[in-house]
Order: sequence, then structure tokens, then C-alpha cells
Amino acid sequence: MPGAVRRCLVRLLDMAAPIGVVERALDVGCGAGRSAFTLAERHPRALVLGIDTNLGLLRLAQGAAHGTVSYPRRRIGLVYDRRRFPVSLIGSERVDFWACDALALPFAAASADLVAALNLLDCVAEPRRLLAGLAEVLRRDGRLLLATPYDWSTRATPVETWIGGHSQRAAHRGAAEPFLRSLLTAGEHPQSVPGLRLLEEMHAWPWQTRLHERSTVSYRSHLLALARSEG
Ligand SMILES: C[S@@+](CC[C@H](N)C(=O)[O-])C[C@H]1O[C@@H](n2cnc3c(N)ncnc32)[C@H](O)[C@@H]1O
Repeated sequence: MPGAVRRCLVRLLDMAAPIGVVERALDVGCGAGRSAFTLAERHPRALVLGIDTNLGLLRLAQGAAHGTVSYPRRRIGLVYDRRRFPVSLIGSERVDFWACDALALPFAAASADLVAALNLLDCVAEPRRLLAGLAEVLRRDGRLLLATPYDWSTRATPVETWIGGHSQRAAHRGAAEPFLRSLLTAGEHPQSVPGLRLLEEMHAWPWQTRLHERSTVSYRSHLLALARSEG
């Protein structure tokens, strides 16, 4: 459904309020850049950097920043239709995109006011390491916005690093939400990421992604807004 990513981010920004002045924002796993542009629109003093490892999506995002959206839209099977149209995105001159691995962020500690990682957690090989890296680049009282449908796949993430979705006999009985919450709360898990405070969460935010003209996948993403509580 068009606008799903934007609506999700706007909801997370509301959950994270009050955020204060944002001068440096990161959109990690930015895909085609929709949420990076929304961050720029909502935070008029922010320089926004979107990072991703998919060069095709980054090219699409960069094109949008320069006023043109152009991409092959899958109709069915191997058949694609070229879509090309002009866009005018508020604040796009403050947005840039880099090819960069979310598990090896090349940024100084405490250098970002706001970090968003929407629907990325279940796409990386080491989700816990991702969370630690995101927390590290946040300045004190900065905000971390997470969304995840926990759509685990061994193609992206080895089972032993999944957050939930396995180990039905464990205390969390395979549930993902309490497992993630414990990883984000110091002292609640041996591998907890220190220095974060959960502000608010939502358990089932609807998020759809189009596969082709006869197929759209519907997810229910877990949303979490967190604050960095230590320097
Ligand atoms: C499911 S998409 C979500 C895109 C966007 N955030 C959204 O919510 O629509 C996951 C994105 O993460 C990117 N990604 C996967 N692994 C990554 C990594 N290690 N570093 C940076 N980006 C990664 C993918 O290329 C893809 O664009």
C-alpha cells in the first residue's frame, strides 16, 4: 500500500516525542529512501543520511533526491514496467545516501541525534550486533526508532542469531517481543545492549510490501521507540 513506510515512521516519531532539535539523522537500511525523505521533512534542520547495501535501491533514492523517480516495477514473473516520474520532496537537498553495511557503521560514537532502522532487524546476519551499533552512534537522549515483523529467514540470518522464532522450550517460548525487549534493557539478558531506554512500543503495526501486480505481502510490525540514556 503506497505510503506504508512513511506512516510507520510518522507513528514512530510520535511515539518518540519529545525529540528536540535533530541535526544529524541516520536511516539505516533505507531502501528506496522513503523514510529518509520523511525524516528530512519532519526535521527541518536535519542532515539525513540513508544507508543501505542495495545499490539499485540507493540509485533510486538518489534519483528521487534529485527530482526523478525511475525504477523497474515488477508486473509478473520476469516482466517489469519502467516507471519514471518527477517528484518534489521537501528537504531533499539535506538528504544523502551511502552504500554502507549496517553492521559496520563508519560513524563516531554519539554522533547522531536520531536513528531509524525500519524493517531491517530480520535482514541482517547479526541482529544483536546491529542493535549495539545503532545504540553506539546515538548521542545521549537521542532517539532510536525500530520496526520489525520478525520475518526470519536463514538466507539472511543464521537461526542461532534470530531474536525469537525458535526455542519453544525457552522461557520466552519462542516469542520475539519479550526477547527483543530483554536485549534492549540493560541487565535483563546476558547480551543486553547497554544505554537504551524503551519509551513506547506497538505490537502490530500493519505494513504491506508489493511483490508484483497480483501479490502484496502483509506484515504486522513491532514498533519500538527508544532513547539513549548514557553518553
Ligand atoms: C525490508 S527492507 C526495508 C527497507 C525500508 N527501511 C522500509 O522499511 O521499507 C530492508 C533493507 O535493508 C537493507 N539491508 C539488508 N542488510 C543490510 C545491511 N547489512 N546493511 C545495510 N542495509 C541492509 C536491504 O537492502 C533493504 O533495502
